[in-house]
Amino acid sequence: MRSAASTRPAPSQSVSGAARRLADAGCYTPWLDAELLLREGADLGRRVAREPVAYILGRKAFRWIELHVDRRVLIPRPDTETLVETALELAPRGGRVHDVGTGSGAVALAIKAERPDLVVSGSDASQGAVDVARENARRLGLDVDVATARDLPPGHYDLVVANLPYVREDEWDGLAPEIRLYEPREALVAGRDGLDAIRALVGSVPPGTLLALEHAPAQAEAVRGLLDKSRTLRDLAGRERVTVGRAP
Ligand SMILES: C[S@@+](CC[C@H](N)C(=O)[O-])C[C@H]1O[C@@H](n2cnc3c(N)ncnc32)[C@H](O)[C@@H]1O
Repeated sequence: MRSAASTRPAPSQSVSGAARRLADAGCYTPWLDAELLLREGADLGRRVAREPVAYILGRKAFRWIELHVDRRVLIPRPDTETLVETALELAPRGGRVHDVGTGSGAVALAIKAERPDLVVSGSDASQGAVDVARENARRLGLDVDVATARDLPPGHYDLVVANLPYVREDEWDGLAPEIRLYEPREALVAGRDGLDAIRALVGSVPPGTLLALEHAPAQAEAVRGLLDKSRTLRDLAGRERVTVGRAP
């Protein structure tokens, strides 16, 4: 008679079978995803349907913190670390920094975690995102106020950072299923040239406000043109990613 142990597939066989299913479904990192999802006892079928791993597990690491994420918020991207690094460099000691379009709270909470001297706040037009960001602040024990607001809430800020939507409307259909089917469209798309949200923010803040804005590399020149004394910083892959300048 065979023992129970001998009928169970070896772990590596389970991973290889799962990885094959994910590869067949079109996932880009099938082995990594299979290992993670099996180790966590997560539902592989959700990943086969191209749901992002971060939504299935309900969490995403960003710099030194881990955030709860679900379909109310964009999954924080490594590209956005450039925005955090820019804020850490520009913010004066003890200064006030505000994150517009905070989503999960990733940028605001990462800044506060790394610069406790700063007074950091965030806001988002989406009530669902605000709820997620507040819950993340509470879980991480970080003192960051999050408001529901479009554009910049009233107040004095030494620096305003924003990773607002910047995808062009005509790009949407070509995006990966992980984005198109699961992430909130209003967190990503901003009109014909992708600059509607950035233009609205720049046009609504008090003149002279110091802004650090994340954007697509192809938008760098246009964003520089919206600001006074502007300059653009590159992300980890060397692409123009964050433009800093003063609102005219
Ligand atoms: C690209 S997501 C970025 C989320 C987060 N900052 C991050 O980096 O992970 C953009 C966020 O901006 C919010 N948003 C869009 N337009 C806005 C506006 N005019 N004012 C405030 N928030 C806005 C969306 O609800 C969404 O949460």
